Amino acid sequence: MCGIVGYVGRQNAVSIILEGLKRLEYRGYDSAGVCLEKGRRLEVVKKAGRVDNLAKELGRRRFTATTGIGHTRWATHGAVTDANAHPHVSSDGKFALIHNGVIENYAQMKAFLTGKGYTFKSETDTEVLCNLIAYHYAKEPARAKGRNRFMESIRKTLHHVEGTYGIAVLCVDHPGEIVGARKASPLILGVGTDEYILASDASALVSRTQNVVYLKDGEIVHLTPKRFSITTLDQADVSPVVNQLTWSVADSDKGRHAHFMEKEIFEQPAALENAMRGRFSADGSTALFGGLNISPGEFREMERFMFCACGTAWHACLVTEHLIERFARVPVEVDYASEFRYRNSPLDPRTLFFVMSQSGETIDTLAALREAKRKGFRVMAVNNVVGSSIAREADGGIYQHVGPEVGVASTKAFTSQLLIGAMIALYVARMRDMSYSDGVEYVNALKGAPELVRQALKQAPKIKAIAKRYAQYHDMLFLGRLSLFPLALEGALKLKEISYVHAEGYPAAEMKHGPIALVSEKCPSVFFAPKSEIFNKIVSSMQEIKARKGPIIAIATADAPLPDDLADEVIRIPECHEAVLPIVAAIPVQLLSYYIALERGCDVDKPRNLAKSVTVE
Ligand code: F6R
Repeated sequence: MCGIVGYVGRQNAVSIILEGLKRLEYRGYDSAGVCLEKGRRLEVVKKAGRVDNLAKELGRRRFTATTGIGHTRWATHGAVTDANAHPHVSSDGKFALIHNGVIENYAQMKAFLTGKGYTFKSETDTEVLCNLIAYHYAKEPARAKGRNRFMESIRKTLHHVEGTYGIAVLCVDHPGEIVGARKASPLILGVGTDEYILASDASALVSRTQNVVYLKDGEIVHLTPKRFSITTLDQADVSPVVNQLTWSVADSDKGRHAHFMEKEIFEQPAALENAMRGRFSADGSTALFGGLNISPGEFREMERFMFCACGTAWHACLVTEHLIERFARVPVEVDYASEFRYRNSPLDPRTLFFVMSQSGETIDTLAALREAKRKGFRVMAVNNVVGSSIAREADGGIYQHVGPEVGVASTKAFTSQLLIGAMIALYVARMRDMSYSDGVEYVNALKGAPELVRQALKQAPKIKAIAKRYAQYHDMLFLGRLSLFPLALEGALKLKEISYVHAEGYPAAEMKHGPIALVSEKCPSVFFAPKSEIFNKIVSSMQEIKARKGPIIAIATADAPLPDDLADEVIRIPECHEAVLPIVAAIPVQLLSYYIALERGCDVDKPRNLAKSVTVE
């Protein structure tokens, strides 16, 4: 949800900001813009559309500057136009501001500022914020001189703001300086040699430095090429902790792949290996988690688990629920984070609370975490981005360790969440009734998952050919049972988000209670058909579809005895342990939606209306 980047230093800010914006573009791609310092002037160039449009414009104008800010937008307030693109400049021309987040009380502030003679060129909440800074700056000349006046006006403004923000601000009176601040929107400072880069995430700065400071909510950072300082909104000094990034720029490159999504799909065997490395006990019968910050004894006392997440991560929670209940026999509840935060649901005191989030910045998941903590629960996070807000605020957690996921459609993060969910189920089960030998069998199955995923990926050419035949359909059903019902939801979500094909996921037997009305020769169904004790029931559901002329794509394990001529297409996946099945079953639906999107000419890595990290409510 919007990417921001700011640079102060001795190098050409234009190319550094543009490179940062290209790497942040997955956060939003409605428009892009920069503001560069040119002597005592602020030069703004901004355009609706992709960063490439902006780059062309900047190339034509041959800008140079050593201080600047840039933004890539996911529209909230106001349509996708040049005028609504960031940066926004205050009506007195003194300030330029970029913003990620939502200012909830902007309408009142706008009315107030309009009464004071301020004017507005856009429909955005951001321009209001920028003018409020100008207002406070104009009011403060005598009391706060020099650099502090810049900081003070921002501090004052932020005290009046309701909502969320990650901002970077330039001021004509303070050349070579940037002020940044955050509340519930991510902001990270890259500490280089005689240069600093402020960005929404590390991908925008990792090519210049691996030393970073994760800013916290309520902190304001002041940058010049020589130094930085961090204070709180209440003016307390903050001693910064400089962390080392553990990944390099190559991790966020597409390499030989056409799209990040393709790269991330094919990276999954290695990603799973990384996610499980060092996480099994020496006797090979259970999982080990270093960062839970809760003793095995306390964990053992928990009588329920609650999982909250959004989107694909929510699907991973549903699979985890199935595995914990199946193997550990402990009740689990799963809720959408966005619902949980307002539902005020009754929770048993001996509940261990988990949130799952690849980015660690999803605002609803973060809010669910905070709500659970407010109620006195300990909250564990399953999270991929080190140092994210969720990672910092949770009481303990498990990192996914799969490297940056750039493709907007989650793939490797999803399968690693499934893997970690399966490991949590094992950990809980081994504390209860699961035998040592069943534990060893389970661990060996998990260790074999990367190889099984490798085998499933070999079906790519076949799936590509199927995608060609099915790309023109407008509707599709995804049907699965038990641990593969959430995979049906995930398959439908993947197809919807990158191919714009209407798709629905259902438990296969529920299909009779409504969705079967959609079935015709124009609506194919994708069936998960693993060999299991309910295999015959799945076959019956397939027969019901076939009787109504619905085309069928079956995703069946190698040992599943599918009757001849029942399915129009059969994609075989290796037979596997129940805990690994959802991970392996994810591969064909990821590939199917990817290839269908390509056939339909969709922009796979930048699907319309979406952004990778949803930092607004
Ligand atoms: C879909 C997708 C989203 C995310 C959701 C949560 O492919 O990526 O549904 O899963 O926005 O994101 P995180 O995991 O970052 O909290």
